[in-house]
Amino acid sequence: MVSAAKFEHSLDLFDDVERLKRELNAVILAHYYQDPDLQDVADFIGDSLQLAQMAATTNAEVIIFCGVHFMAETAKILNPDKQVLIPDMKAGCSLADGCPANAFEQFLKRYPNHFVISYINCSAAVKAMSDVIVTSSNAVRIVEQVPKDVPIVFAPDRHLGKYIINQTGRDMILWPGVCQVHELFSEKKLTQLKERYPNAKVIAHPECETTVLDLSDFIGSTRALLNYVIDAPKDTTFIVATEPGIIHQMEQKNKGSGKSFIPAPPDSACACNECPHMKLNTLEKLVLAMRFRNPELVVDSELAKRALEPIQRMLDWS
Ligand code: 13P
Ligand code: SF4
Repeated sequence: MVSAAKFEHSLDLFDDVERLKRELNAVILAHYYQDPDLQDVADFIGDSLQLAQMAATTNAEVIIFCGVHFMAETAKILNPDKQVLIPDMKAGCSLADGCPANAFEQFLKRYPNHFVISYINCSAAVKAMSDVIVTSSNAVRIVEQVPKDVPIVFAPDRHLGKYIINQTGRDMILWPGVCQVHELFSEKKLTQLKERYPNAKVIAHPECETTVLDLSDFIGSTRALLNYVIDAPKDTTFIVATEPGIIHQMEQKNKGSGKSFIPAPPDSACACNECPHMKLNTLEKLVLAMRFRNPELVVDSELAKRALEPIQRMLDWS
């Protein structure tokens, strides 16, 4: 049970966020995997593409990014003259961490003349070595725009890469990275759950393994999954094979519809379907970040210029 003191304390924090937002002329952008409190105070909630588009067009002086490091870094690259804050600088991503720039540089030497497509879940240094950036919502569309006779390297998510290969019929060289969260959804447990709820719709993020995607009724980015749920008939049950933070918006946007949501189970009894990086951000840390304007995202200006080119190409091709 929530104690009265904790309840009042969090009400104060909500007030603090509103006041500081006005003082800083700030916009708060949040990803769907963030804690529900952070989604509730955000000015805009979106998938990676929408958040990048929002960062590219905001008039606010300060961008506060409730998401992981690569997302805030992208916002900074798009806004070199604005201050970009993140509640916890340690909020990383296993995909970005699993593709170090020096190793990627060596990898690319084996594939000269290849067009390099990188998933936005990577560092600025990896982006700077890429021809175009993609997110889960525009990857298929962007790969289809590359001339058929041009060979492609895709990094760093091999599961998303395989999904794109299946969708487009294009062959691609894949960097062997995985998302530590989506990789753990269990095909066996999902099959059991489908037997228990035969009418449920399985919805999955393309970072899941092919065996999980093969069991799914719909595959898409976080935003696409949310839209699929909104458009579905009332009283539908959904088995959700992505980080369960998205269920907060699914519930908010479908009140009174009788729709219900079952988080897809990971391989063990752990809570590891939650992204430990996303969950480092809290309402308390957000207030501290706004109060002290710290931690602040800083990107070397030369690197930012090189990383901007493929990000801008993504925005133009989307
Ligand atoms: P989306 O772009 O679909 O929101 O995905 C971001 C992400 O990190 C998924 O794990
Ligand atoms: Fe990275 Fe996976 Fe977390 Fe998304 S869910 S931020 S891909 S570790």
